[in-house]
Amino acid sequence: MMRRVAIVMLSILPLAVGVSAAQAGDAARGQQVFDTRCVFCHGEGLGHPAWQLLALKKGKDKAEIVGRSDLTPAYIKQVVRNGYIEMPPFRASEISNADLDALADYITHPGAASDAKP
Ligand code: HEC
Repeated sequence: MMRRVAIVMLSILPLAVGVSAAQAGDAARGQQVFDTRCVFCHGEGLGHPAWQLLALKKGKDKAEIVGRSDLTPAYIKQVVRNGYIEMPPFRASEISNADLDALADYITHPGAASDAKP
């Protein structure tokens, strides 16, 4: 597990160094998309169906998807486009491919969005 994490970190490091400013912008956009499309189900706490269901099925540490280290951008995009059990899918007319990239960036690296705030 640690080795896999290390390999993933190594492979994203050159990208992160080169485009960190652009990434911060994307993550801020991703946060906007999350706040309009996802938060009413995925916000933290009771009253948010996705949070509640994930807490029940996977445990409270996995209930909040933003910042979870075990979700990859590819998996998140796949879930958003195809839906996932109780979750409805989103088409490209609802969330564009660029917004979906930004959204996946934000969920996997939420810190980049707060860095971008003035
Ligand atoms: C209508 C409510 C709803 C909305 C809106 C919604 N989701 Fe979900 N999502 C769910 C539910 C419920 C689950 C858990 C499904 C299950 O386990 O049955 C889920 C699961 C997921 C998972 C899988 C988590 C895992 O542990 O495998 C991801 C990733 C995810 N949602 C991302 C998103 C993103 C990104 C958005 C915004 C574009 C979004 N969801 C919008 C209800 C929603």
